[in-house]
Amino acid sequence: MISLTGGMEMTGQMSIDSKLQARRRFLRFLAASPLATLPTNFSLAFPDRAMPQDLRQVLNIFQLDQVARERLLPDAYHFIADAADDGATKLANRQAYGKVQLRPRRLVDVSAIDQSVELFGKSYATPIILAPVGAQQKIHSDGELASARAARRQASLMICSTMTNASIGEIASTGGAYWFQLYPSTSRDFMRKLMNAAKAAGCDTIVLTVDGPTRGNQEATRWFAMTRDRSARRPALRLGNFEDFDGRKSIGDPSLTWDDLAWFRDNTDLNFVLKGIMTAEDAQLCRKYGVDGIVVSNHGGRQEGSGRGTLDVLPEIVTAVKGRMPVLIDGGVRRGADAYKALALGADAVCIGRPYLWGLGAYGQAGVEKCLSILNSELKRTMQFAGVTNVAQISRESIYINE
Ligand code: FNR
Repeated sequence: MISLTGGMEMTGQMSIDSKLQARRRFLRFLAASPLATLPTNFSLAFPDRAMPQDLRQVLNIFQLDQVARERLLPDAYHFIADAADDGATKLANRQAYGKVQLRPRRLVDVSAIDQSVELFGKSYATPIILAPVGAQQKIHSDGELASARAARRQASLMICSTMTNASIGEIASTGGAYWFQLYPSTSRDFMRKLMNAAKAAGCDTIVLTVDGPTRGNQEATRWFAMTRDRSARRPALRLGNFEDFDGRKSIGDPSLTWDDLAWFRDNTDLNFVLKGIMTAEDAQLCRKYGVDGIVVSNHGGRQEGSGRGTLDVLPEIVTAVKGRMPVLIDGGVRRGADAYKALALGADAVCIGRPYLWGLGAYGQAGVEKCLSILNSELKRTMQFAGVTNVAQISRESIYINE
């Protein structure tokens, strides 16, 4: 029996299709029965049993995952959940947060909390950022435009993927703050055009993703591609950034090296950030090669099966760059307290991927807004309990680490 990776995070391994159908049937049965009132009365100490009936009842990110799982077709749900190999890296991202504990301080005036952070000279109201995710129309018909509008309403920065269904110009016209994520391509001409398009759209930062010299082994995605009923196939989604220039086949360049970074520097005057750094050695190379910032990331465990969590490697990277450039992190952030822990270990900001995709799948734009508002209020509460009033006060002294 094939075991696909990436089921609901609260319950661990994903079940196969038939189990999923059975579960759905069971949940529908529950929803139609008087028992339906029971789960919502449960304390969320039993989160897997509390199924929200509407957006108002959603209390945490895990419930957005539950609703998305209930509402999305299996291939769309597993597009979000999927991870490389047996899911060890994705799991490690989550587990790393469990090794860190908070040091609450008392009798501090925490009546006013400032969650703002500064990145490349610009102030953002919150350190919680939307990570780049392509093809969001697989999850909701409004795709990235819904996420962008939600990010704007919640005053979050959004990093837009190369592979979005809407173009970077269309996304930026929603009026928020955006960075552009670039995938390496064997066509330099194509990358130059994308960087120019990002600049024309008002982005001030290019984020080059360097964790994909080859495709990660995402078995759920491969499984659905193999087994999908051909007659039920949906039409291919447009890729907005590929319309004026067909670079689709050139995406991915396994020959890219540090020496090639000079080309990017010569071809854009925007801030230049590398996403996917996981070691102190590579962080030092970022300094050597004039990179402006780092996103500590393993693509949410979708690429390599290293089994190493991003929060585990954050300290060595922060030490290696010694405050010379901003360090962002993503992977496994599901609570405001997780964001707090990453900030305490030296991150300047924290990106989320799956949490907002679950919000998008569950309720569209309103679900992404809910996701951000939950995480922001959880972070605020954590800061108040910790006795810190602004992000700069969150430091290594704010936490304990249990190895
Ligand atoms: C991603 N991610 C990603 N990263 C990137 O640089 N470009 C991309 O187009 C995508 N696309 C993408 C699709 C989906 C469905 C997921 C879940 C993720 C990775 C993403 O930016 C981020 O690194 C992780 O999602 C962070 O981990 P969590 O928050 O999902 O655990």
